[in-house]
Amino acid sequence: MLGDFTYYNPTKLIFGKDAMASLTAELEKYGKTVQLVYGGGSIKRNGIYDQVIAALEAAGKTVVEDAGVMPNPTAQKLREGARIARENDVDFILAVGGGSCIDYSKAVAVSKNLPEGEDPWDVYYARSEEPLPDMDVVPVGSVLTMVGTGSEMNCGSVITNRECGMKIGHVYSDDRVWPRFAVLNPEFTYSLPRYQMVAGIFDIMSHICEQYFSGTDDNTSDYLSEGLMRSLIVSSRAAVANPEDYEARSNIMWTATWALNSLVARGKTEDWEVHMLGHAVGAVTDATHGMALAAVALPYYRLIMPYGLEKFARFAVNVWGVDASGKTTEELASAGLAAMETWMREIGCVMSIGELGANESNLDAIADATFFMEGGYHVLNREEVMEILRASLAAK
Ligand code: NZQ
Ligand code: ZN
Repeated sequence: MLGDFTYYNPTKLIFGKDAMASLTAELEKYGKTVQLVYGGGSIKRNGIYDQVIAALEAAGKTVVEDAGVMPNPTAQKLREGARIARENDVDFILAVGGGSCIDYSKAVAVSKNLPEGEDPWDVYYARSEEPLPDMDVVPVGSVLTMVGTGSEMNCGSVITNRECGMKIGHVYSDDRVWPRFAVLNPEFTYSLPRYQMVAGIFDIMSHICEQYFSGTDDNTSDYLSEGLMRSLIVSSRAAVANPEDYEARSNIMWTATWALNSLVARGKTEDWEVHMLGHAVGAVTDATHGMALAAVALPYYRLIMPYGLEKFARFAVNVWGVDASGKTTEELASAGLAAMETWMREIGCVMSIGELGANESNLDAIADATFFMEGGYHVLNREEVMEILRASLAAK
């Protein structure tokens, strides 16, 4: 391991079928007024809302509801959430949902006490500033209902601005933005539509790949990544066959958390270009995050494979179990990506940005919204971005 690093992660995880039993005790540690953040209503249909309200009541909280957080939460909704937080002077934010609700809650947490006239999008996303040290950040906790982003145990928050067609993630370095706790009950994910479950599974795979495809040193983080990917492949197949397979859903939930809580990036540089491409697709089409990644991942990896050939060959053997005998390094590397493609098709990933609503006339706008990252094996240029988008568009 060649890189220097600090590892810090203060989020308390409460995992399992009885995890909700701890929610009241966790809430009692914080102030009286709680902003209850949730999405478009799935939690009312599957009964999670009633359980959360019971825990809030048992903890004696005053609840301020903030519903309607959309997938890919917008800057406009963030402004509304910050206003709700300010007007009710909330002491705590409880996110009940997936990455969208948790990311949004973190963004509201740092925006409640912004000086008047400052716009949260401008400050934290366009300019990527940190909250001022002497400004109060509202503590956040979560009850996770959709698995994939890892937002429950990380400092990231992604906001989409429909006015300027940009989707930007901010990984806060301020320790106060980490969620204080996350309640993880795998059974809460049973009601997810299959499309969302698969999107989450690919999001997890992509997070690991973004941290795995970099560097040439022998690094413990890469061995951890390979283990997580192997577990994900086994469990994703089981969950697709039977969405109520507790063992599979619990493994997927746990893998998602470890895939993006900063552990497997320690001592490495990170790539994140698939996410930059996926965010640009999302900014233009409002596609489901994991599916936007799936549609661009293979064209991207096939383009950069020659620059990181040894790692792609290792990926083929250690993750996909490809037999190396009789193959050149290049054939082995290609076989690994072919195995990944077979798995993606088998579980039901979207393979083309065309399926997400993009067409030839959107490609320039997507390329304009794409940031170029420098931590992987190759830094893209605009022409290569267009090549990837065209390959995705042409995919069947
Ligand atoms: O809004 P409701 O009605 O709750 O429905 C949601 C939503 O439509 C539904 N859902 C969630 N739990 C459910 C359920 N439906 C039935 N049963 C349940 N138990 O699922 C839909 C998607 O939810 P969402 O929260 O949008 O999904 P996800 O967790 O994938 O979050 C996506 C957002 O997170 C960002 C993405 O860019 C996107 O904006 N990301 C955040 C990251 C981070 N914080 O580190 C990293 C990721 O790479 C990602 O960029
Ligand atoms: Zn992601």
